[in-house]
Amino acid sequence: MFTTLTPPITVPPVPQDLKQAIRDLKREQNAVILAHYYQAAEIQDIADYLGDSLGLSQRAAETDADVILFAGVHFMAETAKILNPDKTVLLPDLAAGCSLAESCPPDAFGEFKRRHPEHLVISYINCSAEIKALSDIICTSSNAVKIVRQIPPEQPIIFAPDRNLGRYVMAQTGRDLLLWEGSCIVHETFSERKLIELKTQYPQAKIIAHPECEAPLLRHADFIGSTTALLHYSRRDGAETFIVATEPGIIHQMAKFSPAKQFIPLPGQGNCACNECPYMRLNTLEKLYWALKNQSPQIVLPPDILQAALPPIQRMLALS
Ligand code: 13P
Ligand code: SF4
Repeated sequence: MFTTLTPPITVPPVPQDLKQAIRDLKREQNAVILAHYYQAAEIQDIADYLGDSLGLSQRAAETDADVILFAGVHFMAETAKILNPDKTVLLPDLAAGCSLAESCPPDAFGEFKRRHPEHLVISYINCSAEIKALSDIICTSSNAVKIVRQIPPEQPIIFAPDRNLGRYVMAQTGRDLLLWEGSCIVHETFSERKLIELKTQYPQAKIIAHPECEAPLLRHADFIGSTTALLHYSRRDGAETFIVATEPGIIHQMAKFSPAKQFIPLPGQGNCACNECPYMRLNTLEKLYWALKNQSPQIVLPPDILQAALPPIQRMLALS
């Protein structure tokens, strides 16, 4: 009988003042931290720029930093890399994916596109770099309606991968879009029954929702928009209470801007915490620190994908 002695795994300690250590590394490396509103509050607080997907890609397009540390999910960091192929783009945890991006595999989508050769392909930014490379124009939740309105009415359009955003754009524009049937696990978990219960409990509350939610839920909304649009609406609207139908990370900024107002996160079905994006929440301050310290994990993309995915993103930036 043999026993194997496994050496103990040693994880080096992180510095006591983690935030200061991150700031020091950032300065040494001329790095910038871009963060999405769905990140944990302490990550939002250390970001150089905090925004929705459109704001983050605009900021990535214009940064003069040498290193971009992306506190968000994989498709966001990929977008930053496509816009900055010569810069180092770090994602604190490579497992930070996106159910919506995964719901659109490149092979199946390529085949779908081949079956509809006359269609223009507009893809929501929540997709892989391969899908971007197969697209004509990229959009985000804040400019999808605006971009579709700029396409001549006789031009047929494939809209991918989010069927809920696609249906919302169809309702807003009166256009008939050919939809890819993808969706976000977070925005499809919201319970209409709980929304009605909350509205009964807080009859004066305004319901604000992200267009990735399903149509039956969106029907109750007083305002629908991207995370940035929801934040601005909650600041300027006179209501004192808001029921928030999107990932609750955004409430950190809403409460900062409007401390006297009440923000109630809409729960998911059952008693889970599934209104929190499990991918976004993989990032931690510790992982941000190690990513900068080790210059890893980095986003690496094949040169042909980098080249083919750039024009659709540039078209979006020009049309926004
Ligand atoms: P926006 O950043 O466009 O509001 O989209 C939210 C989202 O789901 C990001 O993954
Ligand atoms: Fe993807 Fe949904 Fe998470 Fe956004 S909230 S990153 S769409 S899984």
